[in-house]
Amino acid sequence: MPQTLPQTLHRLTYFSRSLLRGPAWFVEAEIERLRHTSEARNRAAGITGSLLFNDGCFAQILEGPAAALDRLFAAICADPRHSHVTVLQEVTATARAFPDTPLSYIGPTLTLPPRGAAVPLFERIEQVARGEGPSISR
Ligand SMILES: Cc1cc2nc3c(=O)[nH]c(=O)nc-3n(C[C@H](O)[C@H](O)[C@H](O)COP(=O)(O)O)c2cc1C
Repeated sequence: MPQTLPQTLHRLTYFSRSLLRGPAWFVEAEIERLRHTSEARNRAAGITGSLLFNDGCFAQILEGPAAALDRLFAAICADPRHSHVTVLQEVTATARAFPDTPLSYIGPTLTLPPRGAAVPLFERIEQVARGEGPSISR
């Protein structure tokens, strides 16, 4: 019987500076367009995760098969809508933290504090903002 090799699940967290310029409504609309396209692409590629945007910065957690994640991250790094893409963490995971969301979104219009899996990410972003060393920069 031929056996399918198990795909290694990877989780990658990065932080970047937005290059989207203009009034808040325009930036929000651009991000919604980006999120909408990304959600469909992530679903097709078996990628799940979450995108955060606040104060001109993005943070994103992405998880999925290593090869698909590598391809996606190469495209993300080359995307002219942001710069200073900085990897905060890249790990092999045993289970998905976002099993049901190809790409959830938390933006500046959210009035409630971030919860769940977004909390450690926000804490890490705050550390980076204080200059407490990101790991790799692309
Ligand atoms: C902050 C940010 C997050 C993104 N997240 C995703 C994502 O989760 N999935 C995705 O397919 N594209 C995402 N993109 C878009 C990719 O950078 C890229 O435009 C898209 O994958 C198409 O790449 P291609 O033209 O090389 O095929 C993101 C872009 C930015 C700026």
